[in-house]
Amino acid sequence: EINKPTPRVDGPTKVAGLATYAGEFHPDGLAYAAWVPATIAHGRIDAVDVAEALAAPGVLAVLTHENAPRLPFEPIGPPVVDPDVGEQIRPLQTTEIRFAGQPVALVVAESQTAARDAARLVRVTETATPGVGLAFDPERAHAPGEATDTPPATTAHAEPDGDISDDGAMRTESTVEQPRIHHAAMEPHVTIAAWDGDGRLTLWDKSQWVGNVRHQIARNFGLADDHVRVISPFVGGAFGSALRTWPHVAAAAVAARVVGRPVRLELTRRELFTAVGYRPRTRQTVKLTARPDGHLLAIDHTAFAETSAYEDYEEEVTEPAGALYDAASVTTRHGIVALDTNTPTPMRGPGVVTGVLALETAMDDMADALALDPLDFRRRNDAERHPTSGLPFSSKALRACYDVGAERFGWAARPRARRAMRHHGELVGYGMATAIWPSHRAPSSAAVTLFDNGTAVVRTAASDMGPGTYTSMTQVAADRLGLPVERVTFELGDSKLPTAPVHGGSLTMASVGNAVASACEALRTELAERTGGEAGDDPVATLRELRLDRLEVEGRAAPGGEATHHAAYAFGAVFAEVRVDAELGTVRVPRLVGAYDGGVIVNPLTAKSQAIGGMVQGIGMALMEEAAWDERLGRVMNADLAGYHVPVNADVETLDATFVESADYTFNPLGVKGIAEIALCGVAPAIANALWHATDRRIRTLPFTPDRLIAANALD
Ligand code: MOS
Repeated sequence: EINKPTPRVDGPTKVAGLATYAGEFHPDGLAYAAWVPATIAHGRIDAVDVAEALAAPGVLAVLTHENAPRLPFEPIGPPVVDPDVGEQIRPLQTTEIRFAGQPVALVVAESQTAARDAARLVRVTETATPGVGLAFDPERAHAPGEATDTPPATTAHAEPDGDISDDGAMRTESTVEQPRIHHAAMEPHVTIAAWDGDGRLTLWDKSQWVGNVRHQIARNFGLADDHVRVISPFVGGAFGSALRTWPHVAAAAVAARVVGRPVRLELTRRELFTAVGYRPRTRQTVKLTARPDGHLLAIDHTAFAETSAYEDYEEEVTEPAGALYDAASVTTRHGIVALDTNTPTPMRGPGVVTGVLALETAMDDMADALALDPLDFRRRNDAERHPTSGLPFSSKALRACYDVGAERFGWAARPRARRAMRHHGELVGYGMATAIWPSHRAPSSAAVTLFDNGTAVVRTAASDMGPGTYTSMTQVAADRLGLPVERVTFELGDSKLPTAPVHGGSLTMASVGNAVASACEALRTELAERTGGEAGDDPVATLRELRLDRLEVEGRAAPGGEATHHAAYAFGAVFAEVRVDAELGTVRVPRLVGAYDGGVIVNPLTAKSQAIGGMVQGIGMALMEEAAWDERLGRVMNADLAGYHVPVNADVETLDATFVESADYTFNPLGVKGIAEIALCGVAPAIANALWHATDRRIRTLPFTPDRLIAANALD
């Protein structure tokens, strides 16, 4: 069943509207909450007048820092999805205001409308005080995890015999800026909280990691983990926004405790812009040094990113500089700039997508300086071993990605000259970029139950935010049990199921998938032992011979020593065609071709869907997405889907995604590498490079909107 195109097992349920998302549960007596946001970016709450709101129809309670129960907030070692340094805001526990939009009061009412209406009647008196500032000024950058006056440190790697002082060396310097961008998933974040009479809490919550929500909320309230249950069977897109346990989850549980009824807290689209993180704005400079024959000598990458004043969020922006190309010297610097704003969070391909944007822009700048074809230049610098660690790659099929991608795109037809292709008044350009994403594994477990009627149920506390986890895990189990896919049911999204790691970082299949395989193998072993060592190929027949109606076995999988001996990455090559209306400055992308090395592809159908989804996001990143930051008020000015543009159907034309022959059994037994983030990586720089080719103008600030093309004199 592995590598067979398999339609989504949950497809009919979803299409029929029968899939119950977190916000669609309806416990008896449900009440609704709405929050009141702080309007200033930094300061304190002086007073909250709740009288008018309390008198409004249907209102059950108005919670503020004055009357909300004090929670113990027991210390928690930061989960891997949280910044190492700093702490989230504690809702309704303090008078401190750290960002505009921070919840300062919560209204609970009989209906959502009543709660939102009454929230507008809460009068909050605030006093603004000086904070760290609202301007993204890299001059103020500090080293992540260090005091704010500690300058970013330089990390340098140099091969002992590396010669970077070649006389005829060519040098380029490329700076790119990318704005804050948001996950903007269709499904908003919702938490429904219900307490039972024994002080046990059930949360229905949009989450990529139910185990973490359980643990964190248990610590917030001083409960044992097993007194909290988190249910999240379907997730309508998340891209990282549902990795952390955000303050609104605890707020919903507080509200439910106070009113003695289940409470539903749904964030409005506007609130999502301050409540669940974003990809931080960056300014990056990549300096390259290369010999005239096209061999890179040195890569120097400096990246500045925004963070909040209360948490040092950092991501792997400079990792690709030390992983992608063979250069004797790699120097990196990463500084973060604290603003009076909410904390950024991982968004699909965190750090790496951002770093590759700068690196792949620089690679085209250098190819041009050397008068080399951009693809040829990259091929010449392909690294045989991981450049900075010296480790061999667990597998690497990047050359195949270049070959297959170039062939499918027709790269050979690209003229060297820029602004050389036109079609019906449009300027046409071709560009490409390399993609990379580090493959990760985390300890996982799964339980499999085989029944004598020839069906099986597999269970684990994983999530499926859309990639098709339900389906691909079903395939793995069916494959290992020798059953058809239709006879296997997969359950996830409930914290009472066997432990699973975060559904992020493209690690679910390499982690949970191997636990599922291992549980199935453990079941076969158990059957063999019970029959005295003679279990045939058919576990159901063996079960019947043993006169058992069912057998349940748990399996685990965890990373071995492979990470110390090998560097594991997914790779890709992305090719873009852009067309620019030479009068209006509008840019469209008629064609994207992506060829990916993702290891074994468990389900080519959902993998393709995953890949074209990443391409669509890449089009958004290159051409549309931008949170317009008002640095006087500390607010995103376009905090809704009317002002924050994402690609719609009409913006997306031909997307061609293929996976090259690849299997990585060094990295993990299933041979997979993870394919979520890699699909977004490289798309924006491929479009940037194609735009340069089309217009002969290098625009270094994303997104590439008509005003920027006009300002760059890119039109006729
Ligand atoms: Mo992804 S940013 O790890 O959800």
